[in-house]
Amino acid sequence: MSINVKQLAAEKAVEYVRDGMKVGLGTGSTAYWAIRKLGERVSEGLNITAVATSQASEDQARELGIPLVAFGDVDHLDLTIDGADELDGSLQLIKGGGGALLREKIVAMGSTRMIVVADESKAVTTLGKFPLPVEIVPFAWEWTVADLAKLGCKPELRRSGGELYKTDNGNYIADCRFEAIDSAADLALALQRIPGVVEHGLFIGIADMAVIGKNDGTIEIIEGESDL
Ligand code: A5P
Repeated sequence: MSINVKQLAAEKAVEYVRDGMKVGLGTGSTAYWAIRKLGERVSEGLNITAVATSQASEDQARELGIPLVAFGDVDHLDLTIDGADELDGSLQLIKGGGGALLREKIVAMGSTRMIVVADESKAVTTLGKFPLPVEIVPFAWEWTVADLAKLGCKPELRRSGGELYKTDNGNYIADCRFEAIDSAADLALALQRIPGVVEHGLFIGIADMAVIGKNDGTIEIIEGESDL
């Protein structure tokens, strides 16, 4: 029987959720397993409240009976568990493969702690093989895409079913192929200077821990500066 490494990582991360916590629910096929496990723990009596980073995660949580609260009802979260498209040894991430990067960043930055859950294929030495998702406003998108290309990437507007893909916020996603990102911090600054950019999928200094599921059934934990 083959191991589900995403499930392995996600379920380990859920062990860090304690009674009374306000929890941020990530998006994607790895976060899915974390939400499922949380639902199980809630049905066994775990007392938490949660906010979700996407409609899909919210629907899943609601079905599992995880108590959801409105953003206006909480001023911070204790812990967010979310996936990543790539992560390096310094806990720098590329996120947004599922298109939810803006909401994911708002939720992660509003959390005291963020745990990234991933299978080992996501762990890299240098970020950039995975095209960096950048959320851009539809207005004058052609200019924004041209500005992105000046940063040394090949940007491509994401499509879905033949149509331009729209995020939950009504924006477009430009997937920017860099191949290798030498300095994520410098690139983040350059991206922030482009007016049509709403947010980008580089998460720097946000994750506190990574829980990585390996194909041999083991789990690797990378810890950042702070302890959980
Ligand atoms: C969603 O927008 C993304 O940031 C996901 O967290 C990321 O794409 C990881 O997804 P998977 O766990 O499905 O690989």
